[in-house]
Amino acid sequence: DRPSGSPASQQPKPYESAFLKACRREPVPHTPVWFMRQAGRSLPEYLKVREGVAMLDSCMRPELVKEITLQPVRRHKVDAAIYFSDIVVPLKAIGIDLDIKPGIGPVVAEPIRTRADLARLRDLTPEDVWYVTEAIGMLTEELGTTPLIGFAGAPFTLASYLVEGGPSRNHEHTKALMYGDPQLWADLLDRLAEITSAFLKVQIEAGASAVQLFDSWVGALAPADYRRSVMPASAKVFSSVASYGVPRIHFGVGTGELLGLLGEAGADVVGVDWRVPLDEAARRVGPGKALQGNLDPAVLFAGPEAIEAKTAEVLAAAEGLEGHVFNLGHGVLPTTDPDTLTRLVASVHERTAR
Ligand code: CP3
Repeated sequence: DRPSGSPASQQPKPYESAFLKACRREPVPHTPVWFMRQAGRSLPEYLKVREGVAMLDSCMRPELVKEITLQPVRRHKVDAAIYFSDIVVPLKAIGIDLDIKPGIGPVVAEPIRTRADLARLRDLTPEDVWYVTEAIGMLTEELGTTPLIGFAGAPFTLASYLVEGGPSRNHEHTKALMYGDPQLWADLLDRLAEITSAFLKVQIEAGASAVQLFDSWVGALAPADYRRSVMPASAKVFSSVASYGVPRIHFGVGTGELLGLLGEAGADVVGVDWRVPLDEAARRVGPGKALQGNLDPAVLFAGPEAIEAKTAEVLAAAEGLEGHVFNLGHGVLPTTDPDTLTRLVASVHERTAR
């Protein structure tokens, strides 16, 4: 048997953290902050520990995962950690032949495009991802009251990599399948929903205190197509983890027209990119949801004054929201100066201290 961390019941609890309170739309001592892709190439300490280790291999080494996950928490004093992994890890874990190519992203050896291909998507068991359970056990112990966010790729975004065979601008193979063979598409998304649900459950049972479903590329769809062809699978994922009571965050890029549906799919918190101001996003999402976002990650290259001004703008638009988690509108860009992120966390905390 593999050693696991002490039971979560013995650890100090993140329940009262600003991040989880904001997700639950309760009053907070300050607006909580974390950054998508806060771990990674913007940090010299990350580049150092990743030297000579392939991306996917690093995701399967619990000690390394623990260290990389903690790096941005130590450095920036963010209000939450996000588990270091990648959206394709559960697919790799069930035996899909894929790799993450530096500067490109996930590349799948044999794309999934036919009914026969579906058989390659078998169920995920906790044993397939034993390293996740082990790393999260260690992490929750070290993190104490700082919450750990677990995550997974949403069925559409995973399907886009599996069907295209790699990153894609136009998603033409994916859309060809979606429009051309709706039954096969529905079955594919349902399979991915099962795998994603199982993967999120592993993370929550190991101690993750919130989960984020990344549907990064779903902004490529019109609302009617999203509702018909994608929402049922994402809704299945959200409802499969509802009984745990941990906040569920739903995020995609370019989703201005989909914000209401992203909430309706079953999220407690809707992530917003920088294209829609948070007050307008709140109108689109409707009551009963918190929002997460939404500083343009490119603003971090514009110098301290511009960063402060744009931060103030985001916070002004967030005033009066039921719950707000400050984040970027998408992931930290690899060439970002990490000191700007550290200053940003302090600035949001100071500006919102109550
Ligand atoms: O700190 C965190 O946010 C956790 C780490 C994290 C990674 N991938 C690590 C990673 C998270 C949350 C992801 C999710 C992910 N992976 C998404 C959804 C988030 C988003 O950005 O929309 C997507 C679309 C992927 C697929 C993927 N993996 C891409 C597009 C890339 C970048 C390729 C590149 O090199 O530019 C990856 C690789 C990847 N995932 C890296 C990291 C740190 C870079 C690889 C490296 O450091 O060598």
